[in-house]
Amino acid sequence: MLGRKVGIIGSGFVGATAAYTLTLIGSCHEVILYDIVPDVARGKAIDIAQSANYSPTGTIVRSASTPSEMSDCDIIVITAGVPRRSEMTRADLLMINAKIIKSVVADVVKYSPNALILCVSNPLDVMTYVIHKLAGIPKNRIIGMAGALDVSRMAYAINQRVGFGPGQTRAIVIGDHGLNMIPYPEISAVGGIPLNQLVSKEDMEAIIKRTKEGGAEIVKYLGTSAYYAPARAISVMVQAMLDDSRIVLPSSVMLEGEYGYEDVCVGVPVVLGSNGVEQIIELDLDEEMKAKFKVSVDSIKENIKILEDNNFFA
Ligand code: NAI
Ligand code: 2OP
Repeated sequence: MLGRKVGIIGSGFVGATAAYTLTLIGSCHEVILYDIVPDVARGKAIDIAQSANYSPTGTIVRSASTPSEMSDCDIIVITAGVPRRSEMTRADLLMINAKIIKSVVADVVKYSPNALILCVSNPLDVMTYVIHKLAGIPKNRIIGMAGALDVSRMAYAINQRVGFGPGQTRAIVIGDHGLNMIPYPEISAVGGIPLNQLVSKEDMEAIIKRTKEGGAEIVKYLGTSAYYAPARAISVMVQAMLDDSRIVLPSSVMLEGEYGYEDVCVGVPVVLGSNGVEQIIELDLDEEMKAKFKVSVDSIKENIKILEDNNFFA
């Protein structure tokens, strides 16, 4: 069983909300926030620590002003990154965030050498791949969070359609965390009832569309990306690993032959436990799904190639 010390790198919207969510649940002994801007981590850690007065267990919440002050964590959640600005190309943003991940990973491996690493920073599948290439640790210890969020968006889209309450919908989304993600209504269910017995084909198409546009829908209203549902998804994954609860959730993991691919990180169903990825589940995809999965994997590989062409891994 793991200890219960969780470090969060990047104390922006997602990192701080994840820290707050973990504190509310009370599943960690200690949560440590770090940010390149130390006062941001400090201020948010104090605020969240004060909220812990009313938590079920007394989670210790503190900030680290240097990476070395965040040592021997059991799980490190990486949410550091910069948003895309108008003058940046996609390649610019990729390189900037990959360089941030590179500096962060060096510190994680140095100060928390046994930690499981949960990547949240975007573009998610590529940043998870970058961590795999740089960290030099077993692949089961590096996981990308996206599917856990995308299934909660899909469940929301389903619940809005069928009019049933939340908490009983088991949705599934595979593929990249981007334009080519693959919501999978055929194997989703509400209250154990297969979705195709509850909604029409047209409804399924609408559910797929809303799920794929779930991130953009929030940006449209807020002008920034989502953080409550992402933070809740992070906390569910962290808790599963801390408790060794072996739940199945789609997550971005390194494939080594599974689904016919290798050397790429992409979202597939995995079993989460104290070793991180306990098992990758290979779904029996039909020809149409295989074709969609290929498009999705190819889009991730294109981004990896941009990093390679810019000598990022050299
Ligand atoms: P944000 O801009 O609010 O926070 C990012 C934080 O990272 C900032 O406080 C910044 O100072 C910090 N930072 C930058 N470089 C750093 C470094 N080298 N070391 C430590 N901290 C550093 O952004 P937000 O909304 O919190 O999003 C964080 C990341 O998570 C973004 O890449 C975003 O796209 C991604 N995201 C991913 C989701 C997923 O499902 N995988 C869902 C939502 C967001
Ligand atoms: C989201 O899906 C931006 O990845 C982030 O909301």
